[in-house]
Amino acid sequence: MVILELQGITKSFGGVKALSDVSFVVEKGQVTSIIGPNGAGKTTLFNIISNFYKPDSGKIIFEGKDITDAKVYECAKLGITRTFQNIRLFYNMTVLENVLVGLHVKAKSGFASFFDAIFRTKGFFDTEKALRERALEVIEFLGLEDYINTLAKNLPYGLQRKLEIARALAPSPKLLLLDEPTAGMNYKEVSEIMDIILKIKDMGITVLLIEHQMMLVMGISDKVVVLDHGVKIAEGKPEEIKNNEKVIDAYLGREEAETYA
Ligand SMILES: Nc1ncnc2c1ncn2[C@@H]1O[C@H](COP(=O)(O)OP(=O)(O)OP(=O)(O)O)[C@@H](O)[C@H]1O
Ligand SMILES: [Mg+2]
Repeated sequence: MVILELQGITKSFGGVKALSDVSFVVEKGQVTSIIGPNGAGKTTLFNIISNFYKPDSGKIIFEGKDITDAKVYECAKLGITRTFQNIRLFYNMTVLENVLVGLHVKAKSGFASFFDAIFRTKGFFDTEKALRERALEVIEFLGLEDYINTLAKNLPYGLQRKLEIARALAPSPKLLLLDEPTAGMNYKEVSEIMDIILKIKDMGITVLLIEHQMMLVMGISDKVVVLDHGVKIAEGKPEEIKNNEKVIDAYLGREEAETYA
């Protein structure tokens, strides 16, 4: 079953065509990876799916609904969350507080919660307690339980990346967008992220992943989409992509293709 459909997405920045008529579908419950050289348009595509940017033309259909004109917070409420290639944490807040911010996006809004918050009703405390429990659960899942009260700025780099994932995962999204979650990580950390993504998939969450680490892409993807200069040049199962001449020329190179053959 299709959860996300991109129809003819085009986006230019001044004279640069970042995306040209990109279309593909993401199947529910699968891991779909987007690969391609630097500047291929991968992050731009994430910015468009999460509605940080609007496409010049084309449509985004999520669970059968056109969300092209949705607001960023509406996307989050519908169940699309993301991480950022350049980590975006609240550096002067603790690990727990960072994850709680991710959760409050989804918490009930409107007059009732405003009233509850002002008057500190039982409902307010029940909600806060439930959010805290959920936050702690996700923190433990990412292996950050020893750092609950550590300020984000004092976390080692690899753990900051994990905290980004925790924050996006906390509201139990339907679709999780991960933009280079292993950037700058060592081999051991990459393997851990690989395991984490597979467990997220086991939770029934659909994952759309941007990655340069071919071990990870080829190891866990159900489908791989390849972008080059804003154009989709290939799409298929990892084995098909590894042997695709266009992809080898544009991105993988002969040596890499042989390594993962
Ligand atoms: N906000 C922006 N303003 C102007 N140009 C932009 C903007 N965002 C992206 N671009 C340009 O669009 C093109 C695609 O960039 P994008 O960041 O999507 O590539 P990418 O595939 O994510 O690359 P990388 O692997 O380096 O992260 C690049 O030429 C980039 O300079
Ligand atoms: Mg990018």
